[in-house]
Amino acid sequence: MNRKKICIVGASGKLGKYMVQLALDRGYEVVGVCRDRSAGKLDAFRGRITVICGATNDPEVIRRAVAGCDGVLTVLVPWGVHQYSSGTAQAVLDHARPGARLIFSCGWHISRDGRDVYPRTFKAAVKAASWLGRLVRAVDIDDQVEACRRVFASDTRWTVVRGSDLEEGESQGLPRWSSHVGDPVLESNITRRVDFALFMVEALENNELVHEAPAIVGCRTPSALATTTT
Ligand SMILES: NC(=O)c1ccc[n+]([C@@H]2O[C@H](COP(=O)([O-])OP(=O)(O)OC[C@H]3O[C@@H](n4cnc5c(N)ncnc54)[C@H](OP(=O)(O)O)[C@@H]3O)[C@@H](O)[C@H]2O)c1
Repeated sequence: MNRKKICIVGASGKLGKYMVQLALDRGYEVVGVCRDRSAGKLDAFRGRITVICGATNDPEVIRRAVAGCDGVLTVLVPWGVHQYSSGTAQAVLDHARPGARLIFSCGWHISRDGRDVYPRTFKAAVKAASWLGRLVRAVDIDDQVEACRRVFASDTRWTVVRGSDLEEGESQGLPRWSSHVGDPVLESNITRRVDFALFMVEALENNELVHEAPAIVGCRTPSALATTTT
């Protein structure tokens, strides 16, 4: 039987490298996309994955990378002020083959339907980061919002995984999730980064997550342990 082929856009970052390892463990053929300067960060996977170097918002780079892929895992980051997030999302939406599973990462601050309930401190932190990021022209959170708006509006088989605060450490297992921030299960607001990656990779085969924007939290956190699984 042919191995399933997936593309990981943003493969050289912390989340990306965890996803590469998890995808290889599951037997996927993996194509990774990263910036030229970051290719060395994928040396540990040399010979086991195909690396395509270039800007992730370059449609031609993405077209080549996602060719023939059954799934695409995209790390959406709001770097710079040149539509890096929305350009990356658009390139994936435009060039992934029809029917491919498309999984995008972002944070809790993205809201699909406006029904998320955020702690006041969270909203203040996002507002401050947004203002400061734009001021120094390093981060454009509004562009990550625009990227997700385009994903939500698309007729592809998408999932947008919304990460809580992250920490390093060994896997604790598949995170719990809810459709809306404010749900008691999410209250602890912390997930191991490796488990964020695990949720992204597992979503490739989970059709219940198609057209969902799960907000995740670590499965061993107090709020997850205090709420029963439905
Ligand atoms: N950090 C958090 O606490 C947090 C919380 C919730 C959700 N998230 C979400 O988690 C995902 C991954 O976040 P992460 O913090 O774990 O970061 P990460 O995995 O280290 O990813 C950062 C990515 O951004 C790329 N990058 C860095 N600087 C760049 C630049 N100037 N221009 C273009 N690309 C650049 C990196 O590529 P190179 O390897 O080429 O540098 C890498 O692919 C994101 O979708 C984020 O929204 C993060």
